[in-house]
Amino acid sequence: MGADPKTADVPAVAPFDHHAPDWAADWPGVTSRLRDQCPVARTDAHGGYWLVTGYDEAMAIAMGAEFMSGRVNGESSYFVPSMPLPLIPLESDPPVHTKLRRTLNPIFTERMADLWEPFIRQATDALVDPHIASGRIDLLTDLSRRVTATVNLALVGLVELAATAEQVDRFVTAPGIVAREKAGSPAYLEAIAATEEMDDVVRQLIRDRRRAPRDDVATVVAHIELEGDDETVEATRVRLIQNLVAGGNATTTSLIAHGLMWLSEHPAERAELIAEPGRLESAVEEFIRFYSPAHCVGRRAREDAEVAGATIPAGERVILCFAAANRDERAIERANEVLLDRGAQQRHLAFGYGRHRCIGRYFARTTARVVIGRLLERMPDYRVHVDEVVHYTDVASVNGIHSMPASFTPGRPTGAAMPSDCPPLPDKVKV
Ligand code: HEM
Repeated sequence: MGADPKTADVPAVAPFDHHAPDWAADWPGVTSRLRDQCPVARTDAHGGYWLVTGYDEAMAIAMGAEFMSGRVNGESSYFVPSMPLPLIPLESDPPVHTKLRRTLNPIFTERMADLWEPFIRQATDALVDPHIASGRIDLLTDLSRRVTATVNLALVGLVELAATAEQVDRFVTAPGIVAREKAGSPAYLEAIAATEEMDDVVRQLIRDRRRAPRDDVATVVAHIELEGDDETVEATRVRLIQNLVAGGNATTTSLIAHGLMWLSEHPAERAELIAEPGRLESAVEEFIRFYSPAHCVGRRAREDAEVAGATIPAGERVILCFAAANRDERAIERANEVLLDRGAQQRHLAFGYGRHRCIGRYFARTTARVVIGRLLERMPDYRVHVDEVVHYTDVASVNGIHSMPASFTPGRPTGAAMPSDCPPLPDKVKV
């Protein structure tokens, strides 16, 4: 870009803002222009931050020991601007981060996600049933958000909170609203209140599991031993459960919705997938890369750091736009096209890289594959009403959709009830 950023007194080099509506409306165009000019750029917005749109540069920072994720004087290194309540392990560094991931990684395996398939399928059927005879459904509010919330809440032992759409709206979507809405606005304050209310529910859950252990994730979290006074340790456990719910919800919802929308707009490819459901795994991975629901993630330089010829001074915040990195043609061939057979083992950054790589990635993949697969069986000719789709106007954290009406040839209900029995934990993590 015009100015040379290789100085400690860094000038504003570009007038971008990853929260702005014009960014949301055309982020592939905005980030492609930025990447061509300067894959590591700086803006004055929100007190100043760096933005990384190149694949190699984003990966280098995600792996780099000179960047951190934890808070500094209470201010987030992850969210620009800062959010009041931290998410952990997202906003933590070693040694606490290492301890948490070592404890949780053995639960969140591919094998464990496979065990959840019948649960996800039953939840999908139960949520589709009330709409199947009418031929109309909102694939976002009636289905993808509800099924994702049900799976994520069941995973942490709070499935009862997913009982109604109102509860899902109130609790599960609150952290996303805090991240998107202007601080102090009515929607923001209501979402903060909902998050605090949810904190109380989680605190009680953790106490219950300490008193009466069960075979579940909440019991494992309730028994993680950490340094610090009782209050700090309890707060960490609460933020951890909140991270598992918040991290998985808006992201997986967005993935399912974008995948379903793409298939609605590409009927020939959809017909091929229906004929060959074995290709769904690769298709879902391609939707994960192409839409990169976790649009941007944040870091802070611990020390002066050199990236792509720019010096990021110690203490400055950096936003890694994984969505843009995943469309970087320098790193991924035909990155701006959806190629359903690109393969399940592809090289993308949609789940991050390095120590914070998404813990829920196998659950996200399985949930999307099962929900999309089941929809293609039960309403194979669904058509999304594209003109009525309501997209987020702030995609800084998650590139999401608020509402996505669709119609289809009516079918018959299966009679499925919402599932309540969760698969057991692997033996090696039982408390
Ligand atoms: C399509 C769905 C999903 C996407 C795109 C996604 C994306 C990501 C990304 C990019 C990160 C790394 C953040 C960083 O580098 O700072 C991350 C971390 C995380 N994700 Fe996901 N995620 C998804 C689903 C889930 C699910 C289903 C869960 C829970 C079951 C989950 C829980 C978490 C947690 C707890 C972290 C923090 C990990 C750490 O800091 O060590 N995510 N996710």
